[in-house]
Amino acid sequence: METIFDLRDVSYTYMRRFEALKDVTLSFRSGEQAAILGANGSGKSTLLSILNALTYPSSGEFYAFGNLVKEELFDTLEDNEFNRFFRKRVGFLFQNPDIQLFSSTVFDEISFGPLQLELPPDEVRQRTEDVIAMLGIENLRDRAPHMLSGGEKKKVCIASILSTNPDVLLLDEPTGGLDPRSQVWLVRLIQDLAKSGKTVITATHDLDIVEQISTRAIVVGEDHMIKADADCACVMADQDLLMSANLVHRHIHRHGKVLHEHLHAHSKGHDHVHSDVS
Ligand SMILES: Nc1ncnc2c1ncn2[C@@H]1O[C@H](COP(=O)(O)OP(=O)(O)OP(=O)(O)O)[C@@H](O)[C@H]1O
Ligand SMILES: [Mg+2]
Repeated sequence: METIFDLRDVSYTYMRRFEALKDVTLSFRSGEQAAILGANGSGKSTLLSILNALTYPSSGEFYAFGNLVKEELFDTLEDNEFNRFFRKRVGFLFQNPDIQLFSSTVFDEISFGPLQLELPPDEVRQRTEDVIAMLGIENLRDRAPHMLSGGEKKKVCIASILSTNPDVLLLDEPTGGLDPRSQVWLVRLIQDLAKSGKTVITATHDLDIVEQISTRAIVVGEDHMIKADADCACVMADQDLLMSANLVHRHIHRHGKVLHEHLHAHSKGHDHVHSDVS
């Protein structure tokens, strides 16, 4: 499979002071599903932002679709072929929906992408209607996106990515703020996208969904370096690795007289230790 993204020794520091990624060498192939795991502040969002060419490495190189990505390629008001090609192929779900949403109605928000792609007006309308129906958000179509609930906003953001039908989806904490039913729906959606050949790269600390949405897991440590890049099942079975990256923690609580200790990783991989303290 074709390599679409290639990071070579990439580091990123915000304002020359706050380190966010260190010496990252990774590549992604077309059609794969990968999860990026790491504790808060480890650098997941920064990594996705680099993959989406919104942030440029402080050092090292990032190649996308065989091109060295440099600010000049994107940071120009003038139309440029690579910029257009890239934006058409790659869709990005921001961790914080408020950064993504800007239109005055949900309908306009979802139409924006297809309009940018200069599709015929009928097709823009059709795609927008299709995605609204697919997400079951007909009731929100005329609402102002910034006045919705957190989960509703997230769905509108997801809709606005799907309406452009990108080949590559970069999803930053897609289940954040979604209720259980919507989370299940989202997992199925990612599985369907995978089946249709899309590349899906998801940053999450929701370990419950990792194996359902990806075959590869990349762990970013709190030192902002890659700790593991392997088959999902191997990574999820490695409790020491997950503990060292602060993805699970030892959790102690009491059930009556019994001191109950287990490795807490949302719900998977619970390793119970019981001791009677009476
Ligand atoms: N705009 C910013 N200015 C300064 N430092 C930043 C900025 N954004 C992120 N950082 C720092 O960069 C590091 C990586 O942040 P990043 O948002 O990539 O982490 P993350 O893994 O996505 O965390 P979370 O799980 O909380 O979303 C953190 O130490 C953070 O404080
Ligand atoms: Mg983040």
